[in-house]
Amino acid sequence: MKEFKFLGVFIFVICIINLGVMCNGEDESGLASMKRSEQEALYSAIQGFVGKWWNGSDLYPDPCGWTPIQGVGCDLFDGFWYVTDLSFGPVHDNSLSCAQNVEFRPQLFALKHLKSLSFFNCFVPPHHYPVAIPIENWQAFAGSLESLEFRSNPGLIGQIPLSFEYLRNLRSLVLLENGLTGELPTFIGNLTKLRRLNLAGNSFAGGVPVNYGGLNQLLILDLSRNLLSGPLPSTFGGLTFLLKLDLSNNQLEGKIPQEIGKLKNLTLLDLSNNKFSGWLPTLFEEMSSLEQLVLSNNPTSGDLTNLAWHNLICLTALDLSNTSLTGGVPDSISELKRLRFLGLNDNLLTGEISTKLETLPNINAMHIYGNNLTGELKFSERFYRKLGRRFGAWDNPNLCYQSGLISRINVPFGVKQCQQYENETGLDTHSKLGNNGIWNTESNSMVSLGCSIFCIYRFRYIIVFIVLLVF
Ligand SMILES: *[C@@H]1O[C@H](CO)[C@@H](O)[C@H](O)[C@H]1NC(C)=O
Ligand SMILES: *[C@@H]1O[C@H](CO)[C@@H](O)[C@H](O)[C@H]1NC(C)=O
Ligand SMILES: *[C@@H]1O[C@H](CO)[C@@H](O)[C@H](O)[C@H]1NC(C)=O
Ligand SMILES: *[C@@H]1O[C@H](CO)[C@@H](O)[C@H](O)[C@H]1NC(C)=O
Ligand SMILES: *[C@@H]1O[C@H](CO)[C@@H](O)[C@H](O)[C@H]1NC(C)=O
Ligand SMILES: *[C@@H]1O[C@H](CO)[C@@H](O)[C@H](O)[C@H]1NC(C)=O
Repeated sequence: MKEFKFLGVFIFVICIINLGVMCNGEDESGLASMKRSEQEALYSAIQGFVGKWWNGSDLYPDPCGWTPIQGVGCDLFDGFWYVTDLSFGPVHDNSLSCAQNVEFRPQLFALKHLKSLSFFNCFVPPHHYPVAIPIENWQAFAGSLESLEFRSNPGLIGQIPLSFEYLRNLRSLVLLENGLTGELPTFIGNLTKLRRLNLAGNSFAGGVPVNYGGLNQLLILDLSRNLLSGPLPSTFGGLTFLLKLDLSNNQLEGKIPQEIGKLKNLTLLDLSNNKFSGWLPTLFEEMSSLEQLVLSNNPTSGDLTNLAWHNLICLTALDLSNTSLTGGVPDSISELKRLRFLGLNDNLLTGEISTKLETLPNINAMHIYGNNLTGELKFSERFYRKLGRRFGAWDNPNLCYQSGLISRINVPFGVKQCQQYENETGLDTHSKLGNNGIWNTESNSMVSLGCSIFCIYRFRYIIVFIVLLVF
């Protein structure tokens, strides 16, 4: 019994000494330390970005333990702490914020277990001099680095360094919204473990490398908002795991290759604001995962009527505005029950609009303006009231709305009433008044003015009495 008591006290004391670490089964991490060389490399690398005033040994004697640095993540290798994650920029409250003169110190590349490196809002003019990504040394991260991110650094200029080609372990390369220029390097097509490639919002020019189509693990590919030109390679049909493809806001041209239709898992396809021409109506039919299909502002041309819309049941946004569409608007679009946005404006569409479109249960905006649609809009007042100006049907010279029971405030904006055309021979005075809003309001104000004068006349004695009383 005594022995047990003694044992209990002994274990308790051990636990106190280890501050609970051993009791949690983490004795290894509790006792681990960081090698001096790693610690010095870390502090020096941080100082290069944050400024010389920053002194880790004062603030963070134990950078991975009791006093961890915000934006620094660590892991154990052979019983020692190593830095695995490093991020700069205003992400958390106590984040490492970049100084005015940012410097990539060579010590950064001595962090041999670094898995993730990111810079957000770090290289920002006018206070900072423009900085280029260092050309050399990236091979030091060849075996370790999985995620590299430069995001929202307008002061980061120059090209993608050639030595990125060694980063064969990269899963995610994000160079989003910086001031980078030059052509897209073909060696990126060799980084075959990439799952996310985001080069959007820079000034990259030239063509889209054909071998990017070999990045068959990619889930997200975003090259939007650059100056890319030339065709979309048909090899992109090989990106079978792709969920998001955004090539919008470039100067890409030529036909959209039929192979794109093989991307069965795609949820977002945005090719808007390019110069694509000639899409085949059947191209998207099999892309049954699509939620957002955006092709606006391309001279593609095409016809909606032959597309098997019922295959695209996941669509929430369909934007085909300003794509030189011809033909009619098929009522089979009403099978897209999840549709929230329908943009068919600024095309050459003709024919009538079916009231079936009103049955789209989630529709929140419907743009059909700027076409040559004809006939009567027969949607209910409830529909017009729900959408308001988000129902845009103006600039269709031969389209009119059926006035029926629709009150004035809910009539579709910029569309004229039908009666004028239907019963031209028998226009009676009532419908003339109804159609002439200006006359109508004028007559109303005449009436109310008349009433005021009448009222003054009627109560003239009382008014005189009040005036006398006051003076
Ligand atoms: C941090 O400051 C201490 C004294 O305050 C000094 O001994 C040490 O060398 C400094 N470390 C760095 C990395 O500048
Ligand atoms: C890509 O890899 C292949 C084979 O691994 C090699 O032949 C080719 O030169 C590499 N291309 C680039 C641009 O690195
Ligand atoms: C699409 O995604 C599913 C899982 O959601 C996966 O099983 C399938 O392999 C993917 N298809 C392709 C062609 O990658
Ligand atoms: C329509 O798209 C063309 C390019 O195809 C573009 O030049 C034009 O500005 C666009 N028009 C509108 C109204 O956006
Ligand atoms: C619009 O369609 C009508 C026939 O419905 C046709 O007469 C007219 O020329 C068309 N207008 C334009 C601008 O295409
Ligand atoms: C058309 O005009 C005729 C003659 O004025 C009138 O009898 C008829 O009710 C009008 N029809 C409509 C639909 O307004």
